Amino acid sequence: MRSSAISSSFSASEQAVLFEGDCLKLLSKIPDNSMRLVVTSPPYNLGKSYERKGDLDKYLAWQDEVIAECIRVLHPEGSICWQVGNYVHDGAIVPLDIALYPSFAQRGLKLRNRIVWHFEHGLHCTRRLSGRHETILWFTKSDRYLFDLDSIRVPQKYPGKKHFKGPKAGQYSCNPLGKNPGDVWVIPNVKNNHVEKTLHPCQFPVELVERLVLSMTKEGDWVLDPFAGVGSSLAAALKHGRRAAGAELLPEYCKIARERMQQGTGGLLKSRPMNQPVYDPAKAGRSLTTYPTTQIETAKQLRLLDSGKKKYEVAHEDC
Ligand SMILES: C[S@@+](CC[C@H](N)C(=O)[O-])C[C@H]1O[C@@H](n2cnc3c(N)ncnc32)[C@H](O)[C@@H]1O
Repeated sequence: MRSSAISSSFSASEQAVLFEGDCLKLLSKIPDNSMRLVVTSPPYNLGKSYERKGDLDKYLAWQDEVIAECIRVLHPEGSICWQVGNYVHDGAIVPLDIALYPSFAQRGLKLRNRIVWHFEHGLHCTRRLSGRHETILWFTKSDRYLFDLDSIRVPQKYPGKKHFKGPKAGQYSCNPLGKNPGDVWVIPNVKNNHVEKTLHPCQFPVELVERLVLSMTKEGDWVLDPFAGVGSSLAAALKHGRRAAGAELLPEYCKIARERMQQGTGGLLKSRPMNQPVYDPAKAGRSLTTYPTTQIETAKQLRLLDSGKKKYEVAHEDC
C-alpha cells in the first residue's frame, strides 16, 4: 500500500523522505549501494537567490565531495543523472558538465549519454548567443545497469512504414512500440505560464525526470535528489510508485516540495503531460511569426523598436 507520510530523516523502511538541511548530512545516513537512481540539478555557483557565488575551484571541490557520496550510496546497477548548465564569469562560460566529468570518471563510473535538454526560452544575451540548452550526464556504476527503453519510446515519424521487398516485405519496418527518444530532448523549461511553476527560479520540468525514472528504475526502487528544490524529482518518482529521498536547505522550498510529494503519491501532481508537442505559434496560426528583418522594413516598426529599446535593455541581462 502507498503511504503518503513524508519522513524528515532517512530510514530504509520509509517511502518518502525530505531532509531540511545540507545534503551531505542526509547522504551520511544513507547505506552504501542502496539508491537505484540519483537525479539532481545542483546550484551552478551563479549567485542565484538560493546560493552565494564563490571561487570556481572551491565550488568544484564541494561538488566532488557530494558526488563521491552519491556514488557510495548508488546501487551497483544504478544510474546517476547530473543535470547542469554553464558557470558564467565576466561573460565567459565554463560548461559544468565538462568540469564535473572527472569527478565521476575517476571513480570508475561510465558515461552512457550526455543528454542535451533543449528549451526555447531564457535570458537574451547581447554579446554571445543566448543559451538554449543544458545537459544531463547519465553515468552508471557498472556495465550491468537497468534501462527500460520501451517505457520511454516516442511515436515514430512514419509509423505505418513497411519493408517493401525481401523476406520481411509487408511487415512494419520500425518498432510498433515507438522509437528511441534520442539524446536531444526538447522539453519546455518551467517559466511563468508553465503549469508546474512555483516560486523556485530553476525547477525541473516533471516530464524530464519522468523519462529518467521510468527507464532507470522499477517500482519500489529508491530515487535520490540531493538538491531537491521544490521536489520535482521526488514528486515524479512518487507519482510512478518509486520511493523518494531528498535534501533541501531552504524551508520555503521544502514546504512546496512536501506538498508536491503528497500530490505525486496521491496522483494529483500538476504536470505537463509527457511527450506533448511543444507549442508552435506558426502552426497555431499566430500572426507575429515573421522574421524581425521583415518587420523592420517599415518605418512604423522601426519607431516601435526604438521606443521599446530602453525597456529591452533593462529586461534582458547581458549574460
Ligand atoms: C538548481 S536548484 C534544484 C531545483 C530542483 N531540481 C527543482 O526542481 O526544484 C538547487 C537547489 O539546491 C539547494 N541547495 C543548495 N545547497 C544545498 C545543500 N548543501 N544541500 C541541500 N540543498 C542545497 C538550493 O536551495 C536549490 O533549491
